[in-house]
Amino acid sequence: MKKFSILIAGGGSTYTPGIVLMLLSHLDRFPLRSIKFYDNDAERQKIVADACEVLIRERNPEISFLATTDPETAFTDVDFVMAHIRAGKYAMRELDEKIPMKYNVVGQETCGPGGIAYGMRSIGAMLELVDYMEKYSPQAWMLNYSNPAAIVAEATRKLRPDSRILNICDMPIGIERHMAEILHLDSRKDMDISYYGLNHFGWWTSIKDHAGNDLMPVLKEHIKEKGYCVEAQMYQHTDDSWTDTFRKARDVYALDPDTLPNTYLKYYFYPDYVVEHTDPAYTRANQVMDGREKFVFGECRKIAEAQSSEGADLHIDEHASYIVDLACALAYNTKEKMLLIVENNGAVQNFDPTAMVEVPCLVGSDGPQALCIGDIPRFQKGLMEQQVAVEKLVVEAWAEQSYQKLWQALTLSRMVPSASVAKAILDDLIEANKDYWPELK
Ligand code: NAD
Ligand code: G6P
Ligand code: MN
Repeated sequence: MKKFSILIAGGGSTYTPGIVLMLLSHLDRFPLRSIKFYDNDAERQKIVADACEVLIRERNPEISFLATTDPETAFTDVDFVMAHIRAGKYAMRELDEKIPMKYNVVGQETCGPGGIAYGMRSIGAMLELVDYMEKYSPQAWMLNYSNPAAIVAEATRKLRPDSRILNICDMPIGIERHMAEILHLDSRKDMDISYYGLNHFGWWTSIKDHAGNDLMPVLKEHIKEKGYCVEAQMYQHTDDSWTDTFRKARDVYALDPDTLPNTYLKYYFYPDYVVEHTDPAYTRANQVMDGREKFVFGECRKIAEAQSSEGADLHIDEHASYIVDLACALAYNTKEKMLLIVENNGAVQNFDPTAMVEVPCLVGSDGPQALCIGDIPRFQKGLMEQQVAVEKLVVEAWAEQSYQKLWQALTLSRMVPSASVAKAILDDLIEANKDYWPELK
């Protein structure tokens, strides 16, 4: 069996140790010969790398390991690049969230003005990674989950149309795990699903078991009362703010009881509620810095110091095994059905063929093939057209360095009440992002 060489771009990410442990627990189906880390922050990456070196040595010393900030060393001789970078890190995420809140507008990592600001930072950073891969390992695939995935996907579609990048999100997977729990199923893979939308902006239209029985009625009964909240202890999205998001899915569902919604729609349908329930001085970025980042980095330091992971509390990020599923589908031509963010190209028939949509695809060695969704209803179509226009305007604004187009993008975002508020937010964001955005004219 061929052994693969993996590069994790964003080696210093809080998700890296969990993903390394996950990779090490799937070696029987996805054998590895090399794991490399790449990051542009050597100091941050070293904290994670020093611990992961121990984890790899303990579990499989035959796998070679290195961490580097040098693109040539990183991208040479790799089969898969798993990318989870955060351009501007948490310091900029905090500003993405707090600047809009000054104007009583939702401040969120990937939605609304915050997502637009993050997109303007991520486009250049992601194109750089794509170009390194093309230069040093042109046969490789990049499995990207760096956010905002919708804008990154549109940017690579438009500006690097031949690149071998696949964009994927774990939110539908997380929600499906809650659905499986509601249905008392062992695994979300016991469900056959249909779904369409954009990234962080979609709907399930059908959920059946493998015998063809409709599971939607049971799910709808639950969601009508409790949203996606479940009694069982889950391992991801467990903070109070996430529980609130899962509960709020009840009100999101009420808008269209024929489908089951992605939780992110809460920011588009109930922005007033979100603003009211956000502390403008302590947003999600603060929760993550005080929670996940402190915890993961603390455990990493302990492991590096002891040169042993005994007693360490880092867990296998099993939810992230979809990344191995995707790599296996590409490597072994499994034709597994997976939700990916791909160019529409007729999958949603009554929708812009050039839009990047999130739909089920069959994944084989030639990449993904989207399944046909057919026509979608007016409500979803209207919402998606508006949001796609926002995402396309952001990419055009970045490519053309256009202030006008970015102002239009912000004005078109459902969460922004007026062009004047859009302009005020934009001017603040430009100031905050001057080290990251192209200069706008
Ligand atoms: P993090 O800040 O802990 O890690 C990101 C790392 O990327 C940092 O070490 C940083 O130094 C590095 N980085 C930033 N810019 C870079 C560049 N230009 N080149 C190389 N490295 C760079 O962030 P995190 O919270 O662990 O999240 C990582 C990413 O994964 C984020 O983009 C997040 O939104 C994304 N994510 C996506 C999904 C999904 O569903 N698609 C799920 C989880 C996380
Ligand atoms: C979900 C989304 C990701 C997002 C993450 C944010 O998993 O699918 O795209 O990055 O949530 O989580 P956080 O805990 O950083 O707010
Ligand atoms: Mn996501």
